[in-house]
Amino acid sequence: MKEWTEKERRRIFREEDRQELRELHETILNSRWRDQFHVQPVTGLMNDPNGFSYFNGKWQLFYQWFPFGGVHGMKHWYRVSSDDLVHWKNEGLALKPELLYENSGCYSGSGLPEKDTLYLAYTGNAKDYAKNRYQYQLLAKMDRYGRITKCEKPLIYPNPDYTEHQRDPKLFAYKDRYYILIGAQNPEKKGVMLLYSANSPEGTWQFDGELKVRGYETFGFMCECPCIERIGDKWILLFSPQGIEAEGDLYQQKYNNVYFIGDFDPEKLEFIPDGPYQELDRGFDFYAAQCASQEVYNDAAVLIGWGSCPDYTTPLTDEIGYSHIQTLPRLLTIEDGKLMQRPVPACESIKGEVLFEAKEGTILKDTLRGLMPETAVIHLNNPDLTSCELSLYSGNGKRGFEISYDRNTRKLTVDRTGMLNQFNTEYGTVRRVLLEDGLKSLEVYVDRSCVEIFVNDGEKVITSRNFPEPSEKLIRMGGSNIDLTIWKAQRTVEDDFVI
Ligand code: FRU
Repeated sequence: MKEWTEKERRRIFREEDRQELRELHETILNSRWRDQFHVQPVTGLMNDPNGFSYFNGKWQLFYQWFPFGGVHGMKHWYRVSSDDLVHWKNEGLALKPELLYENSGCYSGSGLPEKDTLYLAYTGNAKDYAKNRYQYQLLAKMDRYGRITKCEKPLIYPNPDYTEHQRDPKLFAYKDRYYILIGAQNPEKKGVMLLYSANSPEGTWQFDGELKVRGYETFGFMCECPCIERIGDKWILLFSPQGIEAEGDLYQQKYNNVYFIGDFDPEKLEFIPDGPYQELDRGFDFYAAQCASQEVYNDAAVLIGWGSCPDYTTPLTDEIGYSHIQTLPRLLTIEDGKLMQRPVPACESIKGEVLFEAKEGTILKDTLRGLMPETAVIHLNNPDLTSCELSLYSGNGKRGFEISYDRNTRKLTVDRTGMLNQFNTEYGTVRRVLLEDGLKSLEVYVDRSCVEIFVNDGEKVITSRNFPEPSEKLIRMGGSNIDLTIWKAQRTVEDDFVI
């Protein structure tokens, strides 16, 4: 991999760069791991989802973007849009760092639609000559034509009572008041969340204080990307705490993304959780998720996450000049006090022709003959009572990507040790998830570079990137009496060059 100099990483997009990026995009299109139904960067590196919202009759999604290669560098915002959360269209560059307050990047933030305006609150990451960091919460406004104007003055200046880590504003409205929740680090270097409020997004913002989660003091050494959302009469509070230690099968990623379900009292600056926090995803590659600001679903929220984690690399595509993906959007509901995460309804349209079908263990259709399709949606129901397994991408003497369930331990195991291309192995190659009530169903979305597994109708989700080689071409299923259907997955995400 090419060594990137600091100067190269600090590059900001200029009109003259279009041709270079067009060529980079053409090279990228030849990548065998370019996905078909996941949002991925037009060029360069993407990280967190930003400004996710329903505005002007469409879903709007922005992402953290370094345009010039598969490395973290000067962060811009790029925008994509969709009618249904599954068919995405590239819309182009949304924010580039040009103000003094953002001289080291337009960092993450959120969107709040109001009438003809989509408010975008984000962090201006600034550094002075001595490389001291200052983080400002800034505002930009997008109109119905997609034109974005920045407000030149920060909404919120660095809070002197916290360290330089103060970022990722979640802007939301509640009972006639506007709030911004940010992730921060206190002087003892512990992760906290700070709440600010105002009468209007462009009004005067006051610091209300730390948002305390009852029963907890702090979270790790830093809380990134907080998000708070109402689902029916409950609230969910999501954030990405850094520095939470692995605990048995839990918190296996370098950094993890967790949620609480509970009640929110802005006046008392308190979140009252119904139970301990839990991971949003039990897989290998998931972070910085945010919910869309929307009025489409009253009793549900729509969530999208970054299919990676800070400090992870994906050398095979980084080398080609692009890195990472966004996960499939998930519909979140609270059922019997539990958070359920299902693929959004339009994910049905990813399913193309049926390639394989078995009912109660009898094969009704098989056009695969043991060969792994390039993309697929796999549904498995009524699994065998003793065990069941699904192995993707085996061959060449390797075991591939294995999903298996053991009834005795009630654990579902996802093992990517048997893949030829290994990456980020220091955070483990196996995940184990205890299913209290056993395994009832699996819904697996397989794109060219990732697998997302929805277990028991959204009770647990497991996300994994994978970079299969052509020799890893077999699929194997085991277990008696299962109902299994495999569809070919269709392309839903456009991959044209728009900047
Ligand atoms: C999370 C994060 C955010 C920050 C952004 C910068 O991945 O570190 O806290 O705003 O990425 O790209």
